[in-house]
Amino acid sequence: MSKIPIKTPKEIERIRDAGKLVAETIARSGELCKPGVTTQEIDNFVREFTLKNGAIPACLGYKGYPKSVCTSVNEVVTHGIPSGYVLRDGDIINVDITSILNGYHADSSETFFVGTPKPNARELVKTARECMFEGIRVAGLPGARFSDIGAIISGICEERGYSVVRDYCGHGIGKGFHEDPLVLHYRQRTPSQRIERGMVFTVEPMINEGTYKTKTLSDGWTTLTADGKLSAQWEHTVAITNHGLEILTI
Ligand code: MF3
Ligand code: CO
Ligand code: CO
Repeated sequence: MSKIPIKTPKEIERIRDAGKLVAETIARSGELCKPGVTTQEIDNFVREFTLKNGAIPACLGYKGYPKSVCTSVNEVVTHGIPSGYVLRDGDIINVDITSILNGYHADSSETFFVGTPKPNARELVKTARECMFEGIRVAGLPGARFSDIGAIISGICEERGYSVVRDYCGHGIGKGFHEDPLVLHYRQRTPSQRIERGMVFTVEPMINEGTYKTKTLSDGWTTLTADGKLSAQWEHTVAITNHGLEILTI
């Protein structure tokens, strides 16, 4: 079993400060997600707004990632790189932002509708959001284990004929961007470690319309659904505080 870092209330306070900034940056980015706007314009905004607020865009230069935000459109599951792509009416776009403030990371993402969504896109995005919040809810129950998160999310998706991506997971977060544990969003055969006070981690399910299988482009980042169907994702950073589970990126 992995050794999961335990944070002090002071450290959680720092992550909360970073989280508030991330929440505001995402909300403002969402306003930009209109037909005719390029994903590069979203990147420009995120970089400038983050720096202006005394923080660092964690994605920029992370393992060689070239931009300050991930913008994943339609069949892009994750790590979409901002570019000259012009958003079109009916697109869905996940904006995933991680900022470092006073040495601590916070990580969150939301899927936005560009113009008017098609009914299937609306259903998928709604389900992905519900999966994230249900995963968070069970993580906060007394005696919860990390495996409870994947169990509830898999159940919701099976019921609706969607699938849960297995190639990417949630993660612990703090001084590091990706810390222990891995937070799996699909069902496991054996119960995993208990969720305890002082743990800080993300819940970030990627939900696909078709197969859960993915493929990654030769740029080394852009990950697509293997069948070209839609994918949607939502993410929050959460902490188990002395008062119970708290969402820090709100
Ligand atoms: N924010 C992503 C996550 O949820 C990670 C992005 S890494 C990057 O873990 F390098 F692509 F930015
Ligand atoms: Co993220
Ligand atoms: Co994350």
